[in-house]
Amino acid sequence: MCGIVGGVAERNISNILIEGLKRLEYRGYDSAGLALINQGQVLRERRVGKVANLADAVSESQISGSLGIAHTRWATHGKPTEENAHPHISGNVAVVHNGIIENYQELKDDLEALGYVFTSQTDTEVVAHLVNDALKTAPSLLEAVRKVVPQLKGAYALGIVHTDHPDELITVREGSPLVIGVGIGENFISSDQLALLPITNRFIYLEEGDIARLTRHTIEVFVDGQLVERPVKELDATVSNASKGEYKHYMLKEIYEQPEAIKQTISQALNGNALREDFLASAIEDFSNIQQVQIIACGTSYHAGMIAKYWFEQLIDMPCQVEIASEFRYRSPVIVNNTLYVCISQSGETADTLAALRDTQKRAVAKNLNITTMTICNVATSSMVRETNHSLLTLAGPEIGVASTKAFTTQLAALMLLVLKIGQIKQTISEDQIAKIVTELWHTPKVILDTLQNDKEILRLSELFVEKQHCLFLGRGTHFPIALEGALKLKEISYIHAEGYAAGELKHGPLALVDNDMPVVILAPKDDMLDKLKSNMEEVQARGGELFVFADEHSGIKGKDRQHVVNVPTVDPILAPIVYSIPVQLLSYHVAVLRGTDVDQPRNLAKSVTVE
Ligand code: M6R
Repeated sequence: MCGIVGGVAERNISNILIEGLKRLEYRGYDSAGLALINQGQVLRERRVGKVANLADAVSESQISGSLGIAHTRWATHGKPTEENAHPHISGNVAVVHNGIIENYQELKDDLEALGYVFTSQTDTEVVAHLVNDALKTAPSLLEAVRKVVPQLKGAYALGIVHTDHPDELITVREGSPLVIGVGIGENFISSDQLALLPITNRFIYLEEGDIARLTRHTIEVFVDGQLVERPVKELDATVSNASKGEYKHYMLKEIYEQPEAIKQTISQALNGNALREDFLASAIEDFSNIQQVQIIACGTSYHAGMIAKYWFEQLIDMPCQVEIASEFRYRSPVIVNNTLYVCISQSGETADTLAALRDTQKRAVAKNLNITTMTICNVATSSMVRETNHSLLTLAGPEIGVASTKAFTTQLAALMLLVLKIGQIKQTISEDQIAKIVTELWHTPKVILDTLQNDKEILRLSELFVEKQHCLFLGRGTHFPIALEGALKLKEISYIHAEGYAAGELKHGPLALVDNDMPVVILAPKDDMLDKLKSNMEEVQARGGELFVFADEHSGIKGKDRQHVVNVPTVDPILAPIVYSIPVQLLSYHVAVLRGTDVDQPRNLAKSVTVE
């Protein structure tokens, strides 16, 4: 959601903050702001819209300072206006905030009664006033913040500076991610290490409840007022893998990175055509006890989980449930003994998934149940990875485009590895079957490369979608979730209303929508359901619907009037959903570009959904 950058240095850090914000813009991009402390003054600039607008304002005003905080906003409380943009100021205090202060109204009433005047509709402004007020009695900025934190309810990360403390940056992590970037003679904070990679690769990952005080030369982390040690970790991520390179958009780059990302992800687990002995070795005992799997995730990650359900049940006879985290966390689900709870998340910070995980863990402890938790995640240092018993990383590299692409297909690859590992431990799959699937997995990057060759043809077809208002995606079996995913991709970046359906459900309702103006995208791999799917296609054609079919090259489906066919190279039906993700991603991408939307940063959305 919102993104925070801050720093304390000897040099002017205005450009560092702006560059950091640009790298965080995927988190929120409706307004941005920055405050620098210089000679006892807070110098602030805020602008509606992208960070580029703020950058222009800063280069015009030439404000500078060696202590500062900056923010890119995804509006929750109050519209995206300049007044609501962070940092918020009270007296000599400036604050940036990511997350939500749930009890802000109550706090605001109290502060107004004390005479504080609010200039924004945000929940954040209460924090600035509270710290200002606490400073009346607190002996230091740190102590003032410590006094304020227990009054705040919700999930938040904060960066706080004060004009009288030109070498001090206070930061708080409570439910929203925050890292400290360790420099030489300078230190920084950010919601995501990505923002700081150009200046350091040494990071301290704060824990929930940590309050830290940064000066140029020191970093102190406190828990309940006691100094604690937090390790400094060195990262080998490079700056370049987070850049767009020669591509027009991050999304396109990330689509094209999929063959390599999948290769990286499976390489960590495979040795030739077998699973490596050390792959998830620390989980063997836990996995041998499980009787069922419960997957929890949101959005695209949820779709990956839906496909894994087919795999768990068909391939290794393991019962598997999948649920959207925002539902799971609030419906008091029965926590079942000997269950493996799997969180799937690109970011590892999605608020609903994290809350569902924490709640499950609490309930299991309360009932003395034996459960195992694990995360499939793209960020090794994320909260979910740190808080689950086991983790399996998707080695996709940073995914910047809001629309998830390479994270999704690597999640699928990782989930298949997990299925095989559990089946091997439980002996519900033979070594021969494992070897066969592993061989196909190794082959997948090449099949994706071949599928990407259809890009131009898909671009040509996408022109037929530009004027459409609605679209249907249909698939069967593991391609039902791909239909859902295709619809999600199309709607989130092109703003065309799209629905994904299991093709067998067509005549139970959605067929009523089909007319001359309704494009229907069909996912047609060569599997056991192909003939049934062909019947569904007939049903659409008979009602005047226009078909866009991504079909196995040997499916026998041919192009004809109002039936456009893109041939997809033959792939083992088990792994076909990985490959069929590619054409739906390309279709959405091209439609969005042709419609002129902001592909990487679609309206109203943010990459990492750290508020519920
Ligand atoms: O980081 P996560 O995988 O937990 O994020 C979950 C969803 O917010 C995410 O997949 C979202 O649906 C994507 N923007 C879809 O492209």
